[in-house]
Amino acid sequence: MSQYTRQTFNEVMIQNYNPANFIPVKGKGSRVWDQAGCEYIDFTSGIAVNALGHCHDEVVAVLKEQGEKLWHSSNWFTSETTLALGEKLVANTFAERVMFANSGAEANEAALKLARRYAVDHFGAQKYNIISFKQSFHGRTLFTVSVGGQPKYSDGFGPKPAGIIHVPFNNLDAVKAVIDDHTCAIIVEPIQGESGVIPATKAFLQGLRNLCDQYKALLIFDEVQTGVGRTGALYAYQKFGVTPDILTSAKALANGFPISAMMTTSKIAQSFAPGVHGTTFGGNPLACAIGSKVVDIIADPAFLANVNQMGEFFKSELRKLNEKFHLFSDVRGEGLLIGAELIEKYHGKAGEFVTACAENGLMILVAGANVLRFAPALNITKEDVLAGISRLEKTLMQFN
Ligand SMILES: Cc1ncc(COP(=O)(O)O)c(C=O)c1O
Repeated sequence: MSQYTRQTFNEVMIQNYNPANFIPVKGKGSRVWDQAGCEYIDFTSGIAVNALGHCHDEVVAVLKEQGEKLWHSSNWFTSETTLALGEKLVANTFAERVMFANSGAEANEAALKLARRYAVDHFGAQKYNIISFKQSFHGRTLFTVSVGGQPKYSDGFGPKPAGIIHVPFNNLDAVKAVIDDHTCAIIVEPIQGESGVIPATKAFLQGLRNLCDQYKALLIFDEVQTGVGRTGALYAYQKFGVTPDILTSAKALANGFPISAMMTTSKIAQSFAPGVHGTTFGGNPLACAIGSKVVDIIADPAFLANVNQMGEFFKSELRKLNEKFHLFSDVRGEGLLIGAELIEKYHGKAGEFVTACAENGLMILVAGANVLRFAPALNITKEDVLAGISRLEKTLMQFN
């Protein structure tokens, strides 16, 4: 048995996380094993990150191959794998230019800074307001957490960046009431992930697009969670049929190796001239080699069609369970980003379900305090879905 236990976490780590009691040590596909050799079905994929499952053979092969060649060279030099991944993202999206960073927050920070710089470059220093949505989540830097619509995450750190306006999600009239010539950008998650797996309506996103055009503001889609195949399209904007000016991607882009991307048009990209923005690790050869393999696999239309089919299958299995237990008031989501909202009696208790599931060999997530979130690997098999659903059934029985 290892010398490390959950207790060690309390002794050496800063307590800004409260991890599960078991410690995973190995993963393959959609299965994970802990220190004691107990097996779990993984419906979390590291919060929508290991989209191809754990230790995917082809991804591991690229990691090893590039690991023997070149890991990092800094942005004083470019790299072949960086260019290859950039080219693939350009070929598969609206974007004409890409910048890499290391996390979702960093990609959003870059997007927000770019939107402000673009406005200053083209319309003057007074056009800096950002409209964002209540309950949204965009990361934990002081700028992104302040843009995010959850004060519990942004309060208590001193003065916040100014020029940020929060309005209710999916409410176009609320946006119309605050947008004006001083607005430089609207940032939105096509499906609010952390706050409950709440999809935007197409009419709402189209309305935001029209307002941005009218007021010469940029539309930013935060696809950190919804991107890279999660919703059954490479990016969710393609499913909604509404194209942003700037799109951010992270999480699954290299299946767990840290990388993020900010994508935009060549015109907007001009506002990031040399030296205006940067990051040491962003777009390093190793991360981009892995990202390239991930995009090759996930951008395949047959792969994406399977994500849609498996998502429908997953939701139908959840609904079947609910016919027995009546614990969910709603089952929703796109592709394999799925939320099951608990009935009122269990509001505030999603975390208890997660712990109980783990005791039955199933890893799931919450999205806020009332919603169980399922974000399995995009290539999960029917067999693994059913095995996980049966462990979920065992858990729900305990609550009924
Ligand atoms: C929509 C969205 N944006 C941004 C982030 C922040 O990403 P990161 O934790 O990689 O900084 C997240 C993380 O959950 C997210 O879901």
